[in-house]
Amino acid sequence: MTRPQTFYVKSFGCQMNVYDGERMSELLAAEGMASAPVEAADVVVLNTCHIRERAVHRVYSEIGALRRENGSRPIIAVAGCVAQAEGENVAKRAGVDVVVGPQAYHRLPALLDAARGGQAQIDTDMPLVPKFDALPKRGVQRASAFLTVQEGCDKFCTYCVVPYTRGAEVSRPFAKIVDEAKALIDGGAKEITLLGQNVNAWESDGKSLADLIAALDRLPDLARIRYTTSHPNDMRDDLIAAHAHVEKLMPFLHLPVQAGSDRVLRAMNRSHTRDSYVHLIERVRVARPDIAISGDFIVGFPGETDAEFEETLSLVAEVGYAQAFSFSYSPRPGTPAATMDAQVPKAVMDVRLQRLQALLNDQQHAFNRASVGQRTKVLIERAGKLPAQMLGKSPWLQSVHVVDPALAVGDLVTLDLAAAGPNSLTGVLPLQDAA
Ligand code: 5AD
Ligand code: SF4
Repeated sequence: MTRPQTFYVKSFGCQMNVYDGERMSELLAAEGMASAPVEAADVVVLNTCHIRERAVHRVYSEIGALRRENGSRPIIAVAGCVAQAEGENVAKRAGVDVVVGPQAYHRLPALLDAARGGQAQIDTDMPLVPKFDALPKRGVQRASAFLTVQEGCDKFCTYCVVPYTRGAEVSRPFAKIVDEAKALIDGGAKEITLLGQNVNAWESDGKSLADLIAALDRLPDLARIRYTTSHPNDMRDDLIAAHAHVEKLMPFLHLPVQAGSDRVLRAMNRSHTRDSYVHLIERVRVARPDIAISGDFIVGFPGETDAEFEETLSLVAEVGYAQAFSFSYSPRPGTPAATMDAQVPKAVMDVRLQRLQALLNDQQHAFNRASVGQRTKVLIERAGKLPAQMLGKSPWLQSVHVVDPALAVGDLVTLDLAAAGPNSLTGVLPLQDAA
């Protein structure tokens, strides 16, 4: 097999996978390989997600779809959480060349080299620190960049594969994160989103996430800071306070709750109650009254009754979400919930999910409508489909489109929010001044 010259990386699932995908691209580019479209690339990396069954099925159909018209296929590397969870089974079942877990992808070039001998290469080790140390420096960035600061999870919610695929909670060192943030800013990033499966559990050398945010706040060319995903039990007072006084910290909090019934929360091993969650949100709103709250929800957890599902709806009504993600429960191999009694029939889950999503969509639309009339800063992130149309994000993470040929990606522009749809807003430049 000749040495591959070109690559394509496709990421599925969460933002941390997007980050890992970018770092794998940078790594392959540093090896002298060029990026190419998926149909033409010598190497295709599928950076996979294991969180729900459907995501896993997708990987296998994607692998099948990589076969080309002349019957050949690229060199295939399966990375991400399916690689970690299924290891050599992926190689056996799908005949791929490399299987590399989320903590081992710094070894991708060596694995690709070794695979040229014709033997599939499997690497699902979990040496966290060497990975980051072995990756090349960050290059050119999008206006809004991701930065992984914490990986893994020690919470063991009974439905979730993350503690198994991403391992134990590990925080990257403070100085390395600040260095990477500076490199991202040098590469053109105006906004940095700090990522972690439990990002608010990040700590290093006695510093908390709030301390890290304060340090980034002092970097002159950075305009905005965000962080995701947080766990209710790690929401410390100093982080809540940061929402009151750190100007660059955006008024947005993604705080998954999953369900509204205390019995279900206990069965999920969430270690917080409905009331403790609601109380937490109240405290965050005292610190930052305009904060947009986002959440994750699961319907149809084993044993969830109709009445317990109603408690999820009433919690949503009580909190009021600006946006949210909601899912039907998906049994994951090896997790405690997968073998619990009283699995909820799919038809029941479907109806619950529809009802929950209808309520969440209404709330999102209402939140967007309530923003109309505001004058606010929008970070322009990419070109839209229409001529001179640009797309950006409000401080509350709403998509805003604006038509103005003078705008460029990376601009932080003051706009009047003029109209709202369920998923986005229309912004216009203020008539009098652009101050
Ligand atoms: N089934 C359905 N949804 C799940 N999530 C995690 N595990 C499962 C599962 N087994 C959801 C949770 C989590 C989000 C990332 O994915 O809501 O917060
Ligand atoms: Fe999964 Fe729970 Fe950890 Fe989130 S906190 S990653 S849902 S185990």
